[in-house]
Amino acid sequence: MLASVTVRAPAKVNLSLGVGSLRPDGYHGLATVFHAVGLYDDLVATPMPEGSGLQLHVEGEGAKLVPLDDTNLASRAVHALVPHGASRDVSLTIRKGIPVAGGMAGGSADAAATLVALDSLFDLGLSREDLMEIGAGLGSDVPFSLHGGTAVGSDRGTELTTALVRGSYHWVIVFAEGGLSTPNVYRECDRLRGGDQVADPVVPDQVMSALRAGDPVALGRALHNDLQPAALSLRPQLAHVLRAGEEYGALGGMVSGSGPTCAFLARDDEHALDLAVAFTASGVCRTVKRASGPVQGARVVDQRISH
Ligand code: C5P
Repeated sequence: MLASVTVRAPAKVNLSLGVGSLRPDGYHGLATVFHAVGLYDDLVATPMPEGSGLQLHVEGEGAKLVPLDDTNLASRAVHALVPHGASRDVSLTIRKGIPVAGGMAGGSADAAATLVALDSLFDLGLSREDLMEIGAGLGSDVPFSLHGGTAVGSDRGTELTTALVRGSYHWVIVFAEGGLSTPNVYRECDRLRGGDQVADPVVPDQVMSALRAGDPVALGRALHNDLQPAALSLRPQLAHVLRAGEEYGALGGMVSGSGPTCAFLARDDEHALDLAVAFTASGVCRTVKRASGPVQGARVVDQRISH
């Protein structure tokens, strides 16, 4: 029997996020390129005596903003695995490095980490495909948090195809004060579109060819996010952050997913350090981090055996 399992799950940015019209099921069809970057949440799962129930502890970046009730995606992941043989008597400790409600799939990372941790802890024998299917029921970004790397996402972001990528990309991630609610940002996107039907989104060729060539300059030019106008409408201050990125010479910049975190692409690690220093000195943001991608999806990094 294992005494504990530690799983590390990455944040994501969307290199391209095309959003279709609102569907009857309440979601929007997407054509997106997910890219996992090296900002992580670590989750430690420990089995507890029978009858203890689920115990959830959250520490680190933005921990106070994380709900600890049954709406928490990690709790929902535990409940989703009970029919597959997992016990509810488990303690989860999440160390957050991913901004909460930041548009970087932090909640999805915690759900993905929980699925991987409990599969290992209770020896459930579920495949990655099984976990991705269960994950899709928890949230649209959970399958990608399991998948990692760089992948094209369609449907509501849950259908994934691995993308061919050369090289590594260096990002400066600029955290904002407070979060944005994803459903509110999608609603604002619909409002700004004034009820017009939009064409089915596609991933632009420029993004895929830049990735295949390993060309950060071309990728910087091709970055695109259909949710950006909505995030800017709800949080106008983000325009200052995006302008600062341009001024400081980022190859490209955008709101990450539904925001309010912004991501800027640098030429290399040294350029990323220069950009990060400039952002820190500017006072336009709360916290600045550097991260490179692509990185692996949620995976076990430590296992303790009980004696
Ligand atoms: O799937 P998830 O729970 O993360 O989605 C949260 C909300 O974001 C959905 O209820 C929906 O309002 C919106 N959403 C959407 N289209 C998507 C993904 C999410 O409209 N493809």
